[in-house]
Amino acid sequence: MLSIVVPTYCEADNIPRLAERLNDVLSAEQITYELIISDDNSPDTTNDVVLALSSKLPARLLQPVGRDKDLSLSVIDGIKAAMHDLVVVMDADLSHPPEMVPQMFKALQQNSEAFVVGSRYVPGGSFDRDWSLFRFLNSYVATLITKPLVSCQDPMSGFFGLNRTKIADYDRLNPLGYKIGLELMVRGKFEHIIELPIRFVDREIGESKLDLGQQLKFLRHLRRLYTAKFGTLGEFFSYGLVGASGFIVDLVFYYLLQFLGAPHQIARALSFWPAVSWNWLLNRIATFGDRERRPHGKQWLEFVLASLLGFSINWGVYYVLTTYVSFFDQYRLVALVTGVGVASVFNFVMSSLYVYNEKRK
Ligand code: GDD
Ligand code: MN
Repeated sequence: MLSIVVPTYCEADNIPRLAERLNDVLSAEQITYELIISDDNSPDTTNDVVLALSSKLPARLLQPVGRDKDLSLSVIDGIKAAMHDLVVVMDADLSHPPEMVPQMFKALQQNSEAFVVGSRYVPGGSFDRDWSLFRFLNSYVATLITKPLVSCQDPMSGFFGLNRTKIADYDRLNPLGYKIGLELMVRGKFEHIIELPIRFVDREIGESKLDLGQQLKFLRHLRRLYTAKFGTLGEFFSYGLVGASGFIVDLVFYYLLQFLGAPHQIARALSFWPAVSWNWLLNRIATFGDRERRPHGKQWLEFVLASLLGFSINWGVYYVLTTYVSFFDQYRLVALVTGVGVASVFNFVMSSLYVYNEKRK
């Protein structure tokens, strides 16, 4: 027994075509199913269309109350509302061939530990080639960045199936934007991913609902998934990158101020401030972007204090090593790098535990 979840927004023209093709293939295979149209209160005739369908097919309409329109949340709502544990999610616009659904269902029945994906990029899969170069590059690059997260050739696919009991808590999912399949793959407890080749057909009726805003959200979504998967290591890496960019800011101001006539000691003392502020802001937005937002001024001050303390440690390590260990006195650059390393770990720990400590709920 299968539940099919189809998120929709203004797909009144496509829904009956999809429902009928699904019914044909599923009846032929004698698969009992229900079709859930998870619709974001479309202003078109979706309500009437689904009502009419429901008198002859096992279809029903699900609509949210009191939340913004959101593709990922519609998919989650649909999965939660399903009568059966085996669920297939697909688009309404017939891009995803209904004829593949029985195969996905059987794959799920045979491997309850698997996440099944209708994939364009495995042998046998395909998509209409009249994609613009931008759309192609976009999809290609996005797929590339997900490689460390999942081993799936088509992680962006909106056509997938799962045993919904493999997701421990749907309220703890944290999708941003529309890549709910990727979210489920990364956060679910699936033993493997089965990719079934599909021919992805461009929609005939209506147009794509996904815009640039969604794409930007996708970047933030990726950062979340990286943090979820690699935890502190991912954060430390980001912190290091921010620090490196701050060093450039430091140098720019150091030279700029001297160019403007400041003595070099003064330039050195002043260039610290733009650099430390830059680091504070970027860490707030990027590295610890998921932490609770705290008042700017107070947090900035704490970050500065932590950095000053870090710098004392940096200098202290250098001083002790070069004074007491002759090796380091010979290779002072090694002492300097060691100081920077120790101080970076110290700064990171201070930032993570104090400056940006509050986890966002
Ligand atoms: N409930 C709800 N809310 N449904 C939505 C929303 C929304 O805000 N936005 C879009 N949908 C529905 C559409 O009605 C359609 O059934 C499905 O989600 C996919 O939307 P399209 O507008 O057809 O997206 P696309 O063709 O650009 O993207 C498809 O291909 C991508 C890969 O190239 C989707 O399958 C994506 O998931 C997939 O990543
Ligand atoms: Mn589409």
